[in-house]
Amino acid sequence: MSTYAPELRATAQAMVAPGKGILAMDESNNTCNKRFEKLEIPTTEDRRRAYRELILTTPNLSEFISGAILYDETIRQSTQAGIPFTQVMQQASIIIGIKVDAGAKDLAGCPGEKITEGLDGLRDRIAEYYQMGARFAKWRAVITIGKDIPSRTCIEANAHALARYAALCQEGGLVPIVEPEVLLDGDHTIERCYEVTDQTLQAVFTQLRLHQVALDQMILKPSMVIAGLSCSTQSSVDMVAQMTIQCLLNNVPATVAGVAFLSGGQTNEQSTAHLNTMNANRSANCPWRVTFSYARAIQQPALEYWHGNDANTKTAQQLLYHRAKLNGAASSGKYSVEMEKTLVLA
Ligand code: 13P
Repeated sequence: MSTYAPELRATAQAMVAPGKGILAMDESNNTCNKRFEKLEIPTTEDRRRAYRELILTTPNLSEFISGAILYDETIRQSTQAGIPFTQVMQQASIIIGIKVDAGAKDLAGCPGEKITEGLDGLRDRIAEYYQMGARFAKWRAVITIGKDIPSRTCIEANAHALARYAALCQEGGLVPIVEPEVLLDGDHTIERCYEVTDQTLQAVFTQLRLHQVALDQMILKPSMVIAGLSCSTQSSVDMVAQMTIQCLLNNVPATVAGVAFLSGGQTNEQSTAHLNTMNANRSANCPWRVTFSYARAIQQPALEYWHGNDANTKTAQQLLYHRAKLNGAASSGKYSVEMEKTLVLA
């Protein structure tokens, strides 16, 4: 057992505290730049820094955000006034998280499939991040649904890497967020998504056990069970919520500290409504807290409003706070569509 076990347990519980979720803001420079380019925001280190400062200095964000996941560049940055972001977060009671994977690369021998890299040197990087104040980490594995894929090879290779990452995190004092993302892209049905998510979670928990990962000291970050973006039959909110919870109940042991979903390209409103329905309809035998760890579904309105212009920061922060608040409500099953209209911009 990790010497950090009591601390890891407490951190994991705090990450999924009632009414709160996790903000993913760990886009790699590549991904962040792509999102900036779409809005014609300059893709410079200064603009990335200014955008992350906007997020982290949003007043009262910690009412609904327990922790935020940073990228390596961001954890080393400071506000315009020279205060390290890590200090800003500690003062705001937002737990510091860090993305530690090196991205999904083509999986040799498996056309169209990915394997996440980043295990080499990970023990040392974890030690450095812990010293810098990080208390949890994220590793994202990508599973693609398509003709004849995912392969067993892809599922097993990614599950293995996730388990090795999670074990190293716990050894070094970071709560691992274990993220096996089944991509939303494609024309697959919700039933096919269920089947693939089921197989993936089964493989992931088998490997986690094999690598002695303490399940009460980790957070699972799954995708929802949902039809592919280009599938002609899209399911109701109730159906997505029901099939997602069913798939989790089939695979996720009760001891897991919490479940925090990614949004994966669903619209903001969909992501919130699905999470809300899962919590509003949750059965008594649902043993873990079910919350969010969204990036796009929380950030998008703020990013679009800000548009790279610091004169827009204050209003963009209100938009960010609003989406965090709605998702906070959804994490307790207390969201309603009417709440979407309650934002009055100052
Ligand atoms: P999205 O919510 O935008 O899918 O991002 C979550 C995440 O952290 C993906 O790794």
